[in-house]
Amino acid sequence: MNKNRRQLLAGISIAGAGFLLNACRATQTRTGSATNEEHKNEGPPAPGEVAPVEVTAAEDLMREHGILRRALLVYQESVVRLRQDPASVPPDALEKTANLFRVFGEDYHEKRLEEVYIFPALKKSTNAAGSYVDILLAQHMRGREITNYVLSMTKADKIPSNSVEALAKALESFVRMYEHHAAIEDTVIFPAWKGTLGEGEYDDLGEKFEGIETEQFGGDGFETALKRMEEIETSLGLANLDMFTAPPIAK
Ligand SMILES: [Fe+2]
Ligand SMILES: [Fe+2]
Repeated sequence: MNKNRRQLLAGISIAGAGFLLNACRATQTRTGSATNEEHKNEGPPAPGEVAPVEVTAAEDLMREHGILRRALLVYQESVVRLRQDPASVPPDALEKTANLFRVFGEDYHEKRLEEVYIFPALKKSTNAAGSYVDILLAQHMRGREITNYVLSMTKADKIPSNSVEALAKALESFVRMYEHHAAIEDTVIFPAWKGTLGEGEYDDLGEKFEGIETEQFGGDGFETALKRMEEIETSLGLANLDMFTAPPIAK
């Protein structure tokens, strides 16, 4: 892809969530976070179509982490390739991954959900998990700095050769931070947050999160991000799950 076109696409991506939806709006399925309410007038799924699944607020947040973990895998694999053969890492695949992290992870999952609904509620509560909040916020900020850096390093058609190791180190430290960040949120923060909510409040917030997702992305952001992530994995030869099966122990 020529540089102007890549810059244009990157600009669209940064400007909003349009990039997530442009490619996938036409092929959107009825899977994902759609509620039973939204689908109650629809007939049974067509052959090959998956029935809609209702997800709760914490499930929603955790499957968003699933998308982000897939982006982290791309970063992790890129670190190895950058150190072995920098030319084997196409900058636009890294740029697309960083854009997805920005639009879906930072601008939506972090800024619209965690920082508005989850962290303030935990801070106000007496739950010990509230003590994690300042660190988690600092990690969001550091993550955004690293995403800016990755985007700046992948603008051109080639990663500057004198920046290859610095980029590898930045990706490596980001993966290490965010893997643990998401794991603490999944195992400590989200369950504690759920515990702060009154009866019915949790269900209402599940509906609210779906509304925010639709407003932010103009549709099902999760499904679209998932397709986008699959495209990136395929372009890098990372789409085959079995290639990650650990080898047997040597005897
Ligand atoms: Fe977070
Ligand atoms: Fe999170």
